Amino acid sequence: MHAFGRFEPDERGRLCYLPAIPPFPKLDDVWGPLQRATTAVEAFDRALATFPVPDVVGKLFARLDAVHSSGAEGTTTTFTDLLDYQSSLARAKDPEDAREVAATAEAFDELSAPGETTSYAEAALRIHRRLFERAADPMVAAGAGRMKIHPNGTFDPEAPGSIFYYTAPTSTAAALAAWEAFTAEADERPELVRQALSHWLFEHIHPVPDGNGRVGRLLLPLTLRRKGALRHACAFLGEAVHLDKTLYVDALKDARRRGEFSAWVRVVCAMLAQSAASNLERLEKLGGVHARWREATQSVRAHSVVHRLVPWIITRPTFTVRDAMTFSEGAVTFQAMNTGIRRLIDLGIVTQRDGGGRDRLFTAPEVVRLFDPISLP
Ligand SMILES: Nc1ncnc2c1ncn2[C@@H]1O[C@H](COP(=O)(O)OP(=O)(O)O)[C@@H](O)[C@H]1O
Ligand SMILES: [Mg+2]
Repeated sequence: MHAFGRFEPDERGRLCYLPAIPPFPKLDDVWGPLQRATTAVEAFDRALATFPVPDVVGKLFARLDAVHSSGAEGTTTTFTDLLDYQSSLARAKDPEDAREVAATAEAFDELSAPGETTSYAEAALRIHRRLFERAADPMVAAGAGRMKIHPNGTFDPEAPGSIFYYTAPTSTAAALAAWEAFTAEADERPELVRQALSHWLFEHIHPVPDGNGRVGRLLLPLTLRRKGALRHACAFLGEAVHLDKTLYVDALKDARRRGEFSAWVRVVCAMLAQSAASNLERLEKLGGVHARWREATQSVRAHSVVHRLVPWIITRPTFTVRDAMTFSEGAVTFQAMNTGIRRLIDLGIVTQRDGGGRDRLFTAPEVVRLFDPISLP
């Protein structure tokens, strides 16, 4: 029935899948999509390198990816919601949902720090720990950062008992070690193809109880950067997967059934290209916003906090006065900060989102709408 990998029974007779290392497809069979993905991702990577404000990848694009990658798995926190939650107000309609999405973004921050040298398997478990360590369910929280101890599976009418079980817990450590070796290896073959195959392998091992999709998708940009294929961790899959989860899951399954990986690699390439093209467009528009703001604030006196707020707000478009004070590290008084923000409101750069009090929430709608065109009130 199955062309690729094998099944092994666990102690209760459940047949658990043990994937083999996927073979590289013939380059001719993936060439077009691979070229398009490489071109799109490299164009985004280059544009990031010359963008006038630092850290846009982590602060904005990885956050957007966290929203989409989690959204593909059922969370409902939007980019707008995530920024609200990450302000000092920690405001959220659904705090548990927002916490999970924020944790994905924090895992990116943690693992994309320069000089990060954890093994890929360790990185996977660290992302998992971030995702679940504060879960409301104590059983879930206890498993955070650990490999699964019970078999996990998914509905599959073709499988015995209609459940397709991923790798058995007793085989997971060895399978993950093989995955790590495959992921870390480098040769003359395209790195993008290797990492597409690595993602397939990771999902079929399913090493952790839950979060395998989010963990695996986050590893992709981090790994491509670690291996020097890109300067930034900017090869994101989340948005395209969120737009068409069925396509992504069907392609994962189809490669297993046929033992043939060119269609899978083509789908990953198309998804990477799609996200990178959308992100490049956003980045270009963001550059336009930044240039307009600088022009609009030219006449403000040189020592005003306004000039420091402008680049800060580009990557932190939703904030409270408290957040702005933390950023300024005591260099300005609360009063001066208030005046600066007031000035930005007068210039139409920032709007106040809610009523009075000390903890008001401010937003630069032009920036937020680039990443979330629908949900800002
Ligand atoms: N039939 C399948 N075969 C292999 N992998 C699958 C299959 N269905 C889903 N997946 C992968 O499993 C992920 C879901 O696993 P899960 O552990 O629930 O992670 P998350 O909680 O992040 O969604 C999907 O995003 C996909 O990557
Ligand atoms: Mg899940």
